[in-house]
Amino acid sequence: MSQRTKEILAKLTLDEKIYHLEQVTTATFVPSLKKPNVVTGPDSALKLDENLVFEVGTSLNLIGAETMIEAHDYYLKNSKNKIPPVFMQDVIHGHRTLYPINLAVAASFNRELAKELAGMAAKEASLDGVSVTFAPMVDLVRDPRWGRVMESSGEDPYLNGEMAKATVQGYQGDMGKYNIAACVKHFAAYGAAEAGRDYNTVDVSERTLREYYLPAYKSAVDAGVKMVMTAFNIVDGVPCVGNKHLVKDILRDEWGFDGVVISDYSAVEEQIVHGAAEDRKEAAYLAMEATLDIEMMSSCYAKHLKELMAEGKITEEQIDKAVLRILDLKEELGALDNSYRTVNPEEAKKIQLSKEHRALARKGAEESAVLLKNDGILPLSKDVGSVALIGPNANTGAIHGSWQCGGKIDETVTVYEGLRNILGDKVKYAPGCYIEYNSEDTSLIDEACSLAENCDCVVLCLGEHQDYSGEGNCRANIDLPEVQYKLLDRILEVNKNVAVVLFTGRPLAIERLDKTAPAILNMWMPGTEGGNASANLLFGNVVPSGKITMTFPRVLGQCPIYYNHYTTGRPKLPEDDYNRVRFTSSYLDIPNSPLYPFGYGLSYTSFEYSDLTLSGETMKAGDKLIASAKIKNTGKYKAKEAVQLYIRDVKGSCVRPVKELKGFEKIELDVGEERTVSFEINEEMLKYWNKELKFVAEKGEFEVFIGKDSNCQAFAKFNLI
Ligand code: NOJ
Repeated sequence: MSQRTKEILAKLTLDEKIYHLEQVTTATFVPSLKKPNVVTGPDSALKLDENLVFEVGTSLNLIGAETMIEAHDYYLKNSKNKIPPVFMQDVIHGHRTLYPINLAVAASFNRELAKELAGMAAKEASLDGVSVTFAPMVDLVRDPRWGRVMESSGEDPYLNGEMAKATVQGYQGDMGKYNIAACVKHFAAYGAAEAGRDYNTVDVSERTLREYYLPAYKSAVDAGVKMVMTAFNIVDGVPCVGNKHLVKDILRDEWGFDGVVISDYSAVEEQIVHGAAEDRKEAAYLAMEATLDIEMMSSCYAKHLKELMAEGKITEEQIDKAVLRILDLKEELGALDNSYRTVNPEEAKKIQLSKEHRALARKGAEESAVLLKNDGILPLSKDVGSVALIGPNANTGAIHGSWQCGGKIDETVTVYEGLRNILGDKVKYAPGCYIEYNSEDTSLIDEACSLAENCDCVVLCLGEHQDYSGEGNCRANIDLPEVQYKLLDRILEVNKNVAVVLFTGRPLAIERLDKTAPAILNMWMPGTEGGNASANLLFGNVVPSGKITMTFPRVLGQCPIYYNHYTTGRPKLPEDDYNRVRFTSSYLDIPNSPLYPFGYGLSYTSFEYSDLTLSGETMKAGDKLIASAKIKNTGKYKAKEAVQLYIRDVKGSCVRPVKELKGFEKIELDVGEERTVSFEINEEMLKYWNKELKFVAEKGEFEVFIGKDSNCQAFAKFNLI
């Protein structure tokens, strides 16, 4: 805490201090603005005191540099204390130039790329006056029904942690010009919502919490993230926003986080609906006790902190600490010296959607795409005479992904435009069917089939609408709609050269598609340059190298399904996957294996893994081993490959997962090139949370795997002694 912020604090009345802890949408305190205002929750009646509303410390979600300047000036003109406001916003996968959804970026297995993309978003957002982004979202996810899996990096704690670190570094840099503060969310375990239904109950043991769900938030904290947002859900019966054990004991005391903690949208008040607080006063008390600093979009603090203090339930020191944390952040952002920071409408116009930014977004989409199946159809030849481009996602900009921030559908390159950029008039288009998940309308299929019949090959763009994932967008059925299968089947009757391009915000249960489509290229929701990236991949200008970071189930009934599960006492052996073996942990009607496992993704080339070696057969506590393998490009294309290291702790005092990702490296190999990739194995990587909730490495045998996905089998062994 600096002398300067302490002096500012000393000038504030108690009421003013309390109002500094409130966060409202920008238009709330500048009602005359009447500009589009992003609301992401119930518009509760805040009923803030008109004399104090301009002492509110921060605001959220208002887009555009000019609007920000107007809001800023209006606020400062009316504020008594004139402490510069700070604008926060959901910059999730890009600001104006959108890059692929975060689940896709993770599939790139490329830390540097994730960092670069976040850096680009920070630059664009800061020029619009945004100082803090509510990102990264690092909630570990296992249920594809949940709409917010699109914002997450997937099911693995290590990979999520690596992506969290890279993203925080990308946004924050050295907190210089164009950097914005990051806010990791949603603390904690929001991704474990039961049945994949948003805001639903979370019930995980403390060990599971620490083992799987907490590590990525911790990585963000270790990377210096400036803010943390609490989650909507309960953990162990207590809403996260008022969960002292999570926020005070773990985040603050154990991890040493002294930055700003903010609630999610109206979550302080929602403690009443949860049945955890009797009224707003108790809701305020619980949040303050948990050391929550900013209350977003409810007014329990504003209405009741003073009263709670008078009753001796909380102290002024608690309030002061929270205010100081916010003031310190403002100081660190440079907002106390120049409250406009980098807002600059002219520069914003030049930089946002610039050629360079579009190129980077395109690279992001190209490296995130996952080739799920290829019967030799892809890549398509540029010498092709004609291409039938068909499908409800073929000619729309609504593929950039949910949470679009400043991005616009009409600024997004469609697949139609992307293909025409390469092939010109050789591309013919027909929609084929409608995108709505409940559409049964087959009236467009005939026209699409005539087109398919008369062209050399078909690019069929199927999948979801971008608004079928994201907050509040959960699905109980994650297969493609029947009408899309009908379209595919009919097209295959007249033309076998069909490449399906899939657009989705989540893993889909597409076993039927896998059985029928000759090739499937999963573009996820690829951002502003999605169409160009799709075209480059389809025609081999770029070779796919993405690998999924969330398991694709065969059918929804397998969910939750994830690679790093425990064995059980009666596992079904992989060789029996398709057989019925009663009294094993299995299903009567389907195999246990997923459709596509974690880490899976094909290439146009082939890679051969060999010579997995370990530098020793034993490792002493505190020592290191080196695991290495040779990887050779044995195919016809120069290409990138995400090499993955997995470890299995064979026996522990608590059971251990069948495999855990412990390292990865993205390499690029020329045709015929071979490279040795090495990973360090140290004691820290072998630690886990034991029964006493101690983070320890236990002596005994470990298996090491290096391979192309989580199914890799070749391994070496060592003993920790
Ligand atoms: C609710 C969402 O859960 C959160 O992720 C977001 O940052 C806030 N709304 C603010 O828009």
